[in-house]
Amino acid sequence: TETIEVGMLGFGTVGSGVITRLRQAASKIEQTQGLRLHLAAVAVHHLNAPRAVELPIGTRLTDSIQSVVSDPHIQIVIEVMGTLTTAEAAISTALQHGKSVITANKDLIATAGARLIALAKRQHCDLFYEASVAGGIPILRTLTDSYATDSVSQVVGIINGTANYILSVMTATGQSYQQALTAAQAAGYAESDPTNDVSGLDTSYKLMILSHFAFGQALTLSQIQPIGLTAITAIECQQAAQAGYHLKLLAEAQQQAGQLYCRVAPVAVPNQSALSRVNGVQNGVAVTSQAIGHSLYTGPGAGSTATANSVLNDVLVAAQHLGQPACGTAFNRNQAQLSVRSLSQ
Ligand code: NDP
Ligand code: HSE
Repeated sequence: TETIEVGMLGFGTVGSGVITRLRQAASKIEQTQGLRLHLAAVAVHHLNAPRAVELPIGTRLTDSIQSVVSDPHIQIVIEVMGTLTTAEAAISTALQHGKSVITANKDLIATAGARLIALAKRQHCDLFYEASVAGGIPILRTLTDSYATDSVSQVVGIINGTANYILSVMTATGQSYQQALTAAQAAGYAESDPTNDVSGLDTSYKLMILSHFAFGQALTLSQIQPIGLTAITAIECQQAAQAGYHLKLLAEAQQQAGQLYCRVAPVAVPNQSALSRVNGVQNGVAVTSQAIGHSLYTGPGAGSTATANSVLNDVLVAAQHLGQPACGTAFNRNQAQLSVRSLSQ
């Protein structure tokens, strides 16, 4: 058995899930892969804050990110703290020290992913971020591997668990927007500041990443111009349901005649559509392609253990390729030259 030294930045909802999944999967990983993932150190902001799960015996808890990303013994760094500038600096330092990096940070990958991937390539390290889109659904690997020879024409997704949870609760129970948001926060689905969840920004970041994998095309926020759900009331959700629709915050990108049309906005989805039945924290990504036709991928879009499972799978792939990076879920496929048009507003 080979031991791989892992460091982690962040010990909140996702970080706690990573520790739980590491415990649950340790013997399977050892038996099937001949690897032992040893969590050497975890960096946090507040050293004395209470934690949802116990640290493994021997894991160092620190408030120094630098001590983790420059630790010569650590081979893989997991970034699950969020933030933009701090996370980018930490990931860059880890890559510069030759470590592979796994992150769940869609804000960062959507806005600085190209820069970080280029650095990872120069350093011959892996940078994976399956958890950044649709939490527990392995949608980026599916698009990379299973659509490798196919041609995607459309992606339509419910890709924010908090937003879908709020809309589902308002529809099913008539609870207010604020009550539903508070419940989503308590469940660990929302960002520490939930503004991006409800404004459509988080959905847009994920659509920017999805678009790369589906079409090889970069999207920018200004091209998407998202509309969020803050103006929607429980009464409107219930009126839509009575008329045979479910209100959903949809992310859409469609390739047609050299154009890429995109939209992030609340949409009344008819009950006959499978996406109308994706409720609560579940996410759903409907992919239309030349060879397969229509496929729908559903599963938990947020939450501790499901998200952490995506993180841990990325860690395993990186561990299998240390020194010979797989560069699998890479942000490097910007071959398309489509002009982009927003349909949001
Ligand atoms: P939390 O707020 O629960 O946890 C964040 C953790 O990062 C905390 O442990 C915090 O430390 C630590 N942290 C924050 N800033 C710093 C800093 N400057 N230095 C050191 N440590 C820091 O967030 P989540 O676990 O919910 O999310 C983490 C990441 O995963 C985010 O990028 C999020 O977008 C993404 N994500 C989250 C999902 C979810 O379901 N929650 C799903 C998919 C992705 P302390 O505890 O000491 O304050
Ligand atoms: N806050 C995000 C959501 C977490 O609710 O979808 C998963 O990216």
